[in-house]
Amino acid sequence: MAKDSATQELLVQREGPVAVHTLNRPKVLNALSDSLLESLVCALEQQDSDPEIRCMVVTGGEKVFAAGADIQGMAEASVAQMLCSDRLAKWQRLQKISKPLIAAVSGYALGGGCELAMCCDLIVASESAVFGQPEILIGVIPGAGGTQRLPRAIGKARAMEMILTGRRFDARKALEWGMVNRVVPPELLLAETMALAQEVARQAPLAVRAAKEAVLKALDLDIDSGLSYERKLFYLLFGTEDQKEGMRAFLEKRPPRFQGK
Ligand code: CAA
Repeated sequence: MAKDSATQELLVQREGPVAVHTLNRPKVLNALSDSLLESLVCALEQQDSDPEIRCMVVTGGEKVFAAGADIQGMAEASVAQMLCSDRLAKWQRLQKISKPLIAAVSGYALGGGCELAMCCDLIVASESAVFGQPEILIGVIPGAGGTQRLPRAIGKARAMEMILTGRRFDARKALEWGMVNRVVPPELLLAETMALAQEVARQAPLAVRAAKEAVLKALDLDIDSGLSYERKLFYLLFGTEDQKEGMRAFLEKRPPRFQGK
């Protein structure tokens, strides 16, 4: 994989149309400091507007994906400081990324780490992955979407138990509960994730963007509004060259050449 750029805390590499972001604060288990989160969000935003990039991967180390928000940076904060920090805004920017995001999770994905994985559209987990929202154990609650996304991902009863007790759950449970897409041996995590990312990256980019938007709407809208939203996006794609190319290629029995137009 070609190394494109690196800061100390975040490594960014590119393989064709896929950009891979590696959280790199191993001494504090990839705790998501403001600066690490800002670097990640900025990199993802840049790639979101780069036509050469079609899918982004977020990963951590073998032992840890991310152990949550940086407790060191928060421990003595006041309400006013928390309110004035733009932490929430960073998470909202993450939510606005229009290209598919895939989390490749090995080891701990706790607190903000679990929330970061759930912000992604697909999650590939290593057999060693451990998820959880342990904020209750340090006197708070999840603050980056955990109380909203975990119930949507694994159901209210399980999410309530995990959030009220701070208990962790492993990759097999996450798969059984429908939170992750697949579980793979640790040594295959990156290869399997990249294969999935490259497969997504081969599809028509505007259709991929519309598909992501429509599926995310399914979680927010009632069925009639969702179906109407889907139909509009479906019709809109008939204004793209890729729709013409995709359907013509099918009829001519050849592979399509999608250009994102
Ligand atoms: N923030 C800051 N530092 C952290 C950290 C975090 N979230 N998690 C771990 N570290 C640091 C530890 O303080 C320790 O530093 P020192 O070596 O200087 O003592 C180092 O990383 C290694 O950690 P441990 O010695 O604890 O490693 P372990 O293998 O024994 O345990 C662990 C691993 C179970 C993940 C444990 O570190 C842990 O429970 N971490 C905190 C998890 C947590 O509570 N996350 C939620 C944070 S709040 C949040 O995320 C809010 C939100 O919704 C956005």
